[in-house]
Amino acid sequence: MPSYDLVVIGTGPGGYVCAIRAAQLGMKVAVVEKDQTFGGTCLNIGCIPSKGLLYASELFEEAGHKFAKLGIGVSKPTLDLAGMMKFKDEGVEGNVKGVAFLFKKNKIDTFMGVGRIAAPRRVEVKTHDGKTETIETKNIVIASGSDVARLKGIEIDEKRIVSSTGALVLGKVPENLLIIGAGVIGLELGSVWRRLGAKVHVIEFLDRILPGMDAEVARQFQRILEKQGMTFQLSSKVTAVDGSGAKLKAQVEPAAGGAAQTLETDVVLVAVGRVPYVGGLGVKEAGVALDNRGRIIVDAHFATNVPGIYAIGDVIAGPMLAHKAEDEGIAVAEILAGQAGHVNYDAIPNVIYTYPEVASVGKTEEELKAAGVTYNTGKFPFTANGRAKANMQTEGFVKILADAKTDRVLGVHIVGPDAGDMIAEAALAIEFGAAAEDIARTSHPHPTFTEAVKEAALAVAKRAIHI
Ligand code: FAD
Ligand code: NAI
Repeated sequence: MPSYDLVVIGTGPGGYVCAIRAAQLGMKVAVVEKDQTFGGTCLNIGCIPSKGLLYASELFEEAGHKFAKLGIGVSKPTLDLAGMMKFKDEGVEGNVKGVAFLFKKNKIDTFMGVGRIAAPRRVEVKTHDGKTETIETKNIVIASGSDVARLKGIEIDEKRIVSSTGALVLGKVPENLLIIGAGVIGLELGSVWRRLGAKVHVIEFLDRILPGMDAEVARQFQRILEKQGMTFQLSSKVTAVDGSGAKLKAQVEPAAGGAAQTLETDVVLVAVGRVPYVGGLGVKEAGVALDNRGRIIVDAHFATNVPGIYAIGDVIAGPMLAHKAEDEGIAVAEILAGQAGHVNYDAIPNVIYTYPEVASVGKTEEELKAAGVTYNTGKFPFTANGRAKANMQTEGFVKILADAKTDRVLGVHIVGPDAGDMIAEAALAIEFGAAAEDIARTSHPHPTFTEAVKEAALAVAKRAIHI
């Protein structure tokens, strides 16, 4: 029977990064993956394909609507949807092959099949041809990820009623796309299909979009998306979708209950969140405790209640983000090697890859108010940023929240061009315990969007220069 120091179940960003770090630290490592390719949700049906389509559809929209303003004459762009999908698929292929290469490079053994914890130190792998292999291991890290959350009575067929997975492979642009849920997936994939020509209508249960994000950011972002043509129906829910006719008929009701209306649409995207995935793992039989939302319970060292079994990523509590899963993968590998692995959950950035992008790190104003923390706010709009004006990309702003007593940066929120790249500076500032003054005194290259971050830091002490 093959024997290892560590077996990682699942090769998403949590699992594959954990395996590589453990191998770097000298452990004998194997991974188990039930799907045909490595990389998990993120690389196969999540981050990577969605960003490919966001990029391609943004260029398509720019070619159609912005080029003329820049003095570039092109005829009206035509959409080759199959070609765009091929571009997206090639991006996925490059990434998943990259993971296979890294496993080889780091001498990590790979087992393809469903992994089940047969005993604390034993994993059984049911391979695709029906055989069972047993592996012995000192430690197990569960990195089994998450799955689409479903709505009672609304059956996802991945053709007309789709989850994000189906929305990444639609064969034609729907005339109407109805999205349930104004969260990250709804707004990213809604942006893709609107740019390609669909009329996109979003139904959201709460009275705002992007719950959990800073409310001022969410309000401004909603206005921007509305200007782009997306429509929103807040405080509403979809109770049923009738697929018997040529058009889907969705029953929409006020969230608080009341008279229903029927909306006709071609495609419905269900984007109401994701749930932890423990299918086939045998966690119950192994005695691994789950919380009331089905997440594996771990302590500060990612250890479950069963000695030798650890868990990371989407299957445990915390934001369902690839970089959070990766950071936990590294931390648990280092802990297993006797080092002080650690994740700072206050400094995990969050990005929505729309146009403009939305990015944040640290606390929102609502969280600071609820915690009774006094803070100063520095804000700077992109309308006053030289590069943004030159590029005609002036929508949005940077907002920095700093402790009123110590000036320490507590939260940074950006709506604007390249916000997702700019937030890295803010994450570093929070990680290092920087003050707004530190950012304000740091030289930022001119002309760049990043100067808006510096100006927002100056604005914390009411001394922004360009406004
Ligand atoms: P996963 O990536 O879900 O990987 C789990 C792996 O475990 C899978 O490969 C699965 O097949 C395997 N597995 C499960 N059970 C078993 C078993 N019993 N035996 C063997 N293998 C098993 N996050 C971001 O940070 N940025 C983004 O831009 C982003 N975009 C996204 C877009 C979409 C459409 C979606 C759906 C998600 C997106 N996410 C994004 C979220 C991100 O994909 C997840 O947070 C991340 O993949 C979680 O990593 P993980 O390793 O915990 O799990
Ligand atoms: P989400 O949690 O971001 O948003 C779900 C939305 O649906 C919320 O606004 C919620 O209020 C609403 N909702 C819930 N039930 C509803 C109902 N019955 N009717 C109407 N609205 C309802 O979840 P989403 O967008 O599905 O994404 C899942 C996860 O994937 C997220 O947690 C996110 O972290 C991750 N992800 C990250 C991305 C990124 O980092 N750029 C991109 C895509 C996904």
